[in-house]
Amino acid sequence: MAAQLPKLTLRSFLGSIARILAGRPQVPPALAGNELLKIIYNRRSLRKFAQRPLPDDVFAAILEAGRLAPSTVNLQTWSFAAFTRESWQAVFGRSIPFKAARAVIVLGDVHRNRAVLDTFPHSPLVEYTIAVTNASLAAMNMNIAAEALGVASCMLAETGRSGLLDAGYLKEKLSLPGGVFPLMTIVFGYPAAAYGPLPPRLPLEEVCFTDGAYHETSPAVLKDWIAQMSAGYKASFPFSSLAAQLRVYQSKITQAEEDLNRMIYK
Ligand SMILES: Cc1cc2nc3c(=O)[nH]c(=O)nc-3n(C[C@H](O)[C@H](O)[C@H](O)COP(=O)(O)O)c2cc1C
Repeated sequence: MAAQLPKLTLRSFLGSIARILAGRPQVPPALAGNELLKIIYNRRSLRKFAQRPLPDDVFAAILEAGRLAPSTVNLQTWSFAAFTRESWQAVFGRSIPFKAARAVIVLGDVHRNRAVLDTFPHSPLVEYTIAVTNASLAAMNMNIAAEALGVASCMLAETGRSGLLDAGYLKEKLSLPGGVFPLMTIVFGYPAAAYGPLPPRLPLEEVCFTDGAYHETSPAVLKDWIAQMSAGYKASFPFSSLAAQLRVYQSKITQAEEDLNRMIYK
């Protein structure tokens, strides 16, 4: 992965940053005032939270959005481990990542259904995919509900040993039975900083094909996107790099793969 990243020169860095700053949600003018679209389009992953506490009823409303998410055959293949600052400290011995006020570890859960249904005895990949799909939808529902309530959030797969790359660690910490596996932690809190620019998105015409045949993204578009990703990462984290972050992921992948196999199928 990391070996394919382009070298960042000052010129390419500045050019990429200019293109990132020019990035905007593409909203048809007639719909620009729609409140829900504004919430969805303006959402960002925030990594700086105010120390102000998050009221219980606000957090309850966010969790309720997770519970009401759609799921395959309404199987609700998820569990949510919800934390306050205090309960996170008690379980993990440290603060919630980015000193957020609350956290939810979103878990794919086929354990509960296996107790009453025998739908997927020979199709573990389908069972796993369904669980991941449904739990991810619940995660996004919580994320959008938070945003609507003025609460910022960030989903974490790696940061703070809080997601699927630390599956074995979380299994032990949370006493997870077989068939329950972590996907991500979502941290929530009131923002302590303004939202940054939109991280680079591929153009819609590159990810959406309309003529019934898969559209290959051109190498030039991919090169430009990776250049923006590298520059954006450097601008946000001057003492790190996208390559370094990808190396962190790579260093954890083998163990995570082993842990997840053990957790889901045994
Ligand atoms: C499943 C998932 C896992 C993520 N894991 C991390 C993480 O471990 N650390 C982090 O800082 N951001 C993490 N992010 C946030 C992404 O970096 C972010 O969504 C992406 O850069 C786009 O930015 P935006 O959410 O502000 O639009 C994660 C996002 C998702 C959806």
